[in-house]
Amino acid sequence: MERYNYGMIGLGVMGRNLLYNIADNGFSIAGFDLDGEKVKELQDGATSEMKVKGTGTMEDFVSALETPRKIILMVPAGKPVDAVLESITPLLSTGDIVIDAGNSYFQDTNRRVADLASKNLHFMGMGVSGGEKGARTGPSIMPGGDLEAFHLIQPMLEAISAKVGNEACTAYMGKDSAGNYVKMVHNGIEYAIMQLISEAYDLLKRGANLNNDQLYQVFKEWNNGEMNSFLIEITRDIFQQKDSLTDGYLVDQILDKAGAKGTGKWTSEQAMEIGVSIPTIDIAVTSRILSAYKEERVQASQLYAEKEMVSPENTELFIKEVGDALYLATLISYAQGLALLVKASEEYNFQIPLKDVVKIWRGGCIIRSVLLEKFYSAYTKDPLLSNILLDQDISVIVKDKIKSLRKTAAYAASNGISSLGIQTALGYFDAYTTESLPVNLIQAQRDYFGAHTYQRTDREGVFHTSWQTAND
Ligand code: 6PG
Repeated sequence: MERYNYGMIGLGVMGRNLLYNIADNGFSIAGFDLDGEKVKELQDGATSEMKVKGTGTMEDFVSALETPRKIILMVPAGKPVDAVLESITPLLSTGDIVIDAGNSYFQDTNRRVADLASKNLHFMGMGVSGGEKGARTGPSIMPGGDLEAFHLIQPMLEAISAKVGNEACTAYMGKDSAGNYVKMVHNGIEYAIMQLISEAYDLLKRGANLNNDQLYQVFKEWNNGEMNSFLIEITRDIFQQKDSLTDGYLVDQILDKAGAKGTGKWTSEQAMEIGVSIPTIDIAVTSRILSAYKEERVQASQLYAEKEMVSPENTELFIKEVGDALYLATLISYAQGLALLVKASEEYNFQIPLKDVVKIWRGGCIIRSVLLEKFYSAYTKDPLLSNILLDQDISVIVKDKIKSLRKTAAYAASNGISSLGIQTALGYFDAYTTESLPVNLIQAQRDYFGAHTYQRTDREGVFHTSWQTAND
């Protein structure tokens, strides 16, 4: 009986596309899904060159694979992963590898790694970014976990991933659940950049009165220069999409309520948990929550209706400043996410190679951008850089754009255009680059009302004062 190199469980669009991508690269692969219709679709969609087999039962699936078995799961995160593991593990043998390619929570992965290890099986968490199209043509792939198991799948991952030049957008992300963790932070940064782009859009639309054709031109220009990135590129295209149900553009008909599946929230929770400041990512998460209060926002906008909008004097200059502000705020969002990875790597002993993270994010993934080349150079010079804002070459870019960020933030604030991401990126930058923050006063207050003690600037030790109450 012919044995297949790989197996895929979960034949939804992502699973099927990843499977075809693997098959296109010369690996044979069997697929399984509880839904028989999806198994049929898989078989029907395969080309004659592909060595693909759809299987109807878990038993047939497992016995169709060469050993050690290499099984990829592309099923929704959470209970479905546990359900698959429960039914498949009794059928597996020592040394088999199960690779979870969904957006699983990293602590779930740690639990599963331990559980499968007790059965002499390998379990790996692997982030995959790039959406449906990326899965088919070349995603960015973030595997982590057992190094030996990784080496067994590495040639396949390098073959199917996106390429920048001839470099594959995949690398080992570290121990245990590092792959899921890196993907989680990728998504947190994704949330922040999307928030910032939406604010730039609002400023250009309501501030400078640009219509969709003009917005298309602006984003096209941005994408042709230093802001070249996947998210700017798709935003450009969105402004051109006509609506099939009305005469206008589709973007104007879409309700202003954003959904979320949870990875952004996990990123914020994690940052709080291990003590890393990532306010632009936090604000992006909470902005989606705020967007859901549609009815209240309508009510409040009527109650506080007298906002006055002053159009910028020089539209061309304004567009340039908004672009520079977006570029810098985006850079600051990456800085926050990467700083979280640095701390998490220590905290959980993941040993995440930051240089490889930014290297493999340069292609295939949702947050790919030419800016990542600069981060790659920064981490090549100093692999232990705690924050990219500390890199000399990055500081040159920051100094060049900071005035535009300030002017854009000021314009938004004085015209009542909500710009939570832009303001927060600027606020983070200002706090991060301030030698003496006013938190000496917070320490004094804490000691005043709670005897929480404080440290001094002029001598070692921990101090407490019996604070005097003023007489008047
Ligand atoms: C990717 C995306 C992908 C997915 C997110 C979106 O890298 O390909 O990040 O993982 O689109 O889950 O998350 P929300 O639904 O929470 O916006």
